[in-house]
Amino acid sequence: MCGIIGYTGKENALQIVLEGLKRLEYRGYDSAGVAYFNKGTIEIKRCRGKIKDLERLFSERPVSNTGIGHTRWATHGRPSEENAHPHRYGRIVLVHNGIIENYLELKRELINKGHAFSSETDTEILCHLIDNHIDNKSLEDAIIEALRPVKGAYAIAVMNELEPEKIVGVRKDCPLIVGLSQNGHFLASDVPAFLHYSRDVIFLDDGEMVILKPDGFRIMNLDGEEVRKSSIHIDWNPVMAEKGGYKHFMLKEIFEQPRAIADTLRGRINPDSGEIAREEFNIEEGILRNTERIMIVACGTSYHAGLAGRYMLEELARIPVEVDIGSEFRYRKPVLEKNTLVIAITQSGETADTIAAIREAKAQELRVLSICNVLGSTAARESDGVFYTHAGPEIGVASTKAFTTQLASLYILSLLLAGLKGSLKHESIKKLISELLEIPHKIESILKHSSTIETIAKQHINRRGFLYLGRGINYPIALEGALKLKEISYIHAEGYPAGEMKHGPIALIDEELPVVVIAPKDELYEKLLSNMQEVKSRGGIIISIVTEGDRNAKELSDYVIEIPPANKYLSTILSVIPLQLLAYYVGVTKGYDVDQPRNLAKSVTVE
Ligand code: G6P
Repeated sequence: MCGIIGYTGKENALQIVLEGLKRLEYRGYDSAGVAYFNKGTIEIKRCRGKIKDLERLFSERPVSNTGIGHTRWATHGRPSEENAHPHRYGRIVLVHNGIIENYLELKRELINKGHAFSSETDTEILCHLIDNHIDNKSLEDAIIEALRPVKGAYAIAVMNELEPEKIVGVRKDCPLIVGLSQNGHFLASDVPAFLHYSRDVIFLDDGEMVILKPDGFRIMNLDGEEVRKSSIHIDWNPVMAEKGGYKHFMLKEIFEQPRAIADTLRGRINPDSGEIAREEFNIEEGILRNTERIMIVACGTSYHAGLAGRYMLEELARIPVEVDIGSEFRYRKPVLEKNTLVIAITQSGETADTIAAIREAKAQELRVLSICNVLGSTAARESDGVFYTHAGPEIGVASTKAFTTQLASLYILSLLLAGLKGSLKHESIKKLISELLEIPHKIESILKHSSTIETIAKQHINRRGFLYLGRGINYPIALEGALKLKEISYIHAEGYPAGEMKHGPIALIDEELPVVVIAPKDELYEKLLSNMQEVKSRGGIIISIVTEGDRNAKELSDYVIEIPPANKYLSTILSVIPLQLLAYYVGVTKGYDVDQPRNLAKSVTVE
């Protein structure tokens, strides 16, 4: 899990690489480094910490036209300067995202041949292996030879001191994207790294290599054969990937949710006819009609969307649904019946465990539909069908707009399947579709009251723990609320089904424990009021999310946050907004870096 970038061209490479690394910091920020050609030799600067620490190492920035850079999320070897990339051996300098699984074995062989190592990383062996093959060979040919014994996942960018202006990139099981422009060529782990300079991109596939020069590029496979690929034009505006005037990406992304959902709905549903554009799912109608079971796999926040999706799909489309975490699914030898549709939910499309789950499903000859935010990502490419959440780039490590667009997508899918299966009448589907169109506007009205949530948050920053309660489809929202708080405020929080509270968590309740109750008016509302009574009578502090005008829940609560009325499936999208803001304001008030919380990374591309 790391971010890599490379540039060769007419412009100042160091400037471009440092700028790009800042946009990749969401992938990890334990250490950072750059390497660049300077008067015929390769210079390296690296340090523990973030890109801003790296920038301090330069009193002045040398002008160079070829360079690579890295921001690290440590896996092998602690965060330190020695373990920071770029790594060098002989004339070879490289950066790497991924894990070399057989590095110990390869390292042992190299040590027996007299090689000395200067870091604890798995990456360094790649420099040694390539250097071993470079004599009388081009860099690309040496890399092909060097990679033969290597097992694992990697995206690498490599330079050879004897071949100035050339960068070679290779991809296997980690993302690597090529950017093209008049003024030079780029490679990076993700598009925002070079979006300011290039919007014409090529997504490399596993086992492909790109050779970049200032005036051209070539793509080859690891058998040395030329590969022809065409570029895709990305219409993300670079400003979309910036903070846009907000203090943090997370806040910007919370406030972007009306737009993100509106974009996700655009062109997919027709409120007048009640039609859903099935072609947007890119999967044959026969597959959807014949689906008898659904298996949802995902990680983190996307898993919580999957849990909520189960309620939508089962209740609306009447299809049995199982939901599993990617890292569990891949190793539990799942029994999957024929006619099971596997749905992978992933913002990045690069989460290693979710990709492994997709591959497991494909190995069992099942159809996979991804709900994904990143165009051309691994999940998108390896699935039979993709429904894109058009949330735009999500930079804040704690996921917000990706989650609500995933919920909206699952709602659309449930209605599509309900129509195909005949579990709902056309008129009901039409009504449910028109309710979805009101959601962006309803989110806006919640966001107008963010200062109320800020005030509540500020009063609870020193609490030792929080409990989040919900019933039915609001239980996954309780889990998501608790996850948001843990991620960015480092306060322990637990999400629980409210009816299960009496089997354990009730023992935690005292005057110090804030209990966040998700209590919109739905068929379980009365039952939830009883659970609130149970908390109240034990002195707990109740912060409730209630439907506008609800007096009963208000009477039982110490703090109340109102959301507009909506059907129970769509109220999930509304009730999570105050929970995102609550976590955000607690984290910010405590002085934490909410966009890059400690120990976390945006995209977990390793197991
Ligand atoms: C990481 C991120 C989470 C995200 C999870 C799954 O843990 O910090 O915000 O929910 O990965 O990521 P995905 O891209 O597959 O949705």
